[in-house]
Amino acid sequence: MKTRTLSLLPLAAVTAAGLLIGGAYAAYAASAEDAVDYRQGVFQALKWNIGPLAAMAKGEAEFDAAEAEMRAGRIALLATWIVEGFPEGSDMVAETDALPEIWENTGDFADKAGDLNAAAAQLAEAAPSLDDASELGPLVGQIGQACKACHDEYRAE
Ligand code: HEC
Repeated sequence: MKTRTLSLLPLAAVTAAGLLIGGAYAAYAASAEDAVDYRQGVFQALKWNIGPLAAMAKGEAEFDAAEAEMRAGRIALLATWIVEGFPEGSDMVAETDALPEIWENTGDFADKAGDLNAAAAQLAEAAPSLDDASELGPLVGQIGQACKACHDEYRAE
């Protein structure tokens, strides 16, 4: 196994910073509609990046360790952008699928974003030493689980 220097610590630091900025930003946030556009954009970017990973894991696309590392790294970073997109009051917007439970359980919601960050960071770290797609499956599955765990509780059908 190749040794890697990518540490998970900077990502954790980024998460913490993101939460602080999120709190500060919420105080003078633009409209709730802008927040909804922002977070839906972040989720679209997450979907865009997990697609090729899932295709590789299923053998529908050729395994490419460098691409897997890049996309997992993007997902890890995007995960730190989620919470900021949910300022207080932004559930009262017609176009949102966000459930009010988010604002009753902000700690748990942030933890679920953190779980996605951790799962994606794990894949980014492991990707360069994977020989083929067979080991990719469980790691991509963990990322998918982190998406689902949050959707199950906090996103309307
Ligand atoms: C921490 C909670 C959380 C995590 C983690 C999460 N989501 Fe979501 N997701 C939501 C919520 C809440 C919405 C609804 C947002 C809205 O409509 O305002 C949503 C909406 C979406 C949407 C629809 C966006 C749109 O245009 O309306 C997509 C696609 C999506 N998520 C994909 C993903 C993927 C892929 C992952 C994992 C890589 C993921 N999500 C992880 C909570 C989460």
